[in-house]
Amino acid sequence: MAEDEKDISLRPKSLDEFLGQKAMKENLSVFIKAAKERNESLDHLFLTGPPGLGKTTLAQVVARELGVDFKVTSAPALDKPKDLAGILMTVTEKAVFFIDEIHRLKPAIEEMLYTAMEDYELDWIIGQGPGARTIRIPIQSFTLVGATTKAGNVASPLISRFGITCRFGFYDVSDMEAIVRRSSGILKTGIDDDAAALLAASARGTPRVVNRLLRRMRDFAQVGLGKVPDAAGGERRSPGGGRITRAVVEEGLKRLEIDGLGLEKYDREILGVIIERYNGGPVGAETLAISVGETTDTLEDYYEPYLIQAGLLQRTPRGRMVTDLAYRHLGLEKARNSGEAFLF
Ligand SMILES: Nc1ncnc2c1ncn2[C@@H]1O[C@H](COP(=O)(O)OP(=O)(O)O)[C@@H](O)[C@H]1O
Ligand SMILES: [Mg+2]
Repeated sequence: MAEDEKDISLRPKSLDEFLGQKAMKENLSVFIKAAKERNESLDHLFLTGPPGLGKTTLAQVVARELGVDFKVTSAPALDKPKDLAGILMTVTEKAVFFIDEIHRLKPAIEEMLYTAMEDYELDWIIGQGPGARTIRIPIQSFTLVGATTKAGNVASPLISRFGITCRFGFYDVSDMEAIVRRSSGILKTGIDDDAAALLAASARGTPRVVNRLLRRMRDFAQVGLGKVPDAAGGERRSPGGGRITRAVVEEGLKRLEIDGLGLEKYDREILGVIIERYNGGPVGAETLAISVGETTDTLEDYYEPYLIQAGLLQRTPRGRMVTDLAYRHLGLEKARNSGEAFLF
């Protein structure tokens, strides 16, 4: 994605620049320091949490802090054991090897990873049939960093081989504000404090989202918003002029259809479908995904975690249900009758 490539300039390069997630960071910096003092590779590191919260960024930061090489791949790119072996045999001493979407590893590859993680050796089978034998190939000690949005889909033998786990939660508003300030500094865009605060509160606790919104607000501020309606029903001149003011953010968010809770159009559609078609739920994830035209993965990994955290949605064993807050937020009445009422 072009936007994500541009985002590289906003990507923190050190633990100091990596804002928020304080407890996680403090622990990590101790483990990094200890590994360096012992001149050992850092223990394997497991990163979980919704997209856009900084898993890939943290993996790179860890390599930098350790002063070692960084290698990156993702589980779907590892098709055959030889793909993994090829990487592991060229990994340099104590390097960080990052595997994204680690819940999607194929069993044969996962198997090979076990010995690599535990003994820094590869089991390699040569020959076929009865004459086949396994040889063990030593590799450099390394740190595997595995990232996933679906920790529940990772096999427990794999999870148990990671010595350190970092669970990413949504960032609180003050951390989000700090990220807005840092990013606007890098982008050389002026932003008022009250504008930064509103932006920080409207970006679903997600650094990637806030950086994207900041770029859009910069566009609005630079080009102007045309004539916009004022509170009295008349028109006032567009804010604009380059600096991101509160008025620019208010109007900009409206134009991007982002509401006071930071929900996007899709979020509201998801809630609306559950209310209007399924009487508030429960409804299964697959059915819901089809109803809103999204993949189940995107629904579960991206949309749901924030809706749940915002107290609008619940995952129950019978399916997804909206909360009373969701009705109030959408300004909808809760139907007094349950589904059974239709079966006279
Ligand atoms: N802790 C952080 N402090 C500042 N910016 C961050 C932080 N975490 C993430 N970002 C920004 O958000 C973007 C998305 O982060 P990324 O690591 O790609 O998320 P993930 O891998 O979890 O999907 C990064 O490019 C970076 O600019
Ligand atoms: Mg990532």
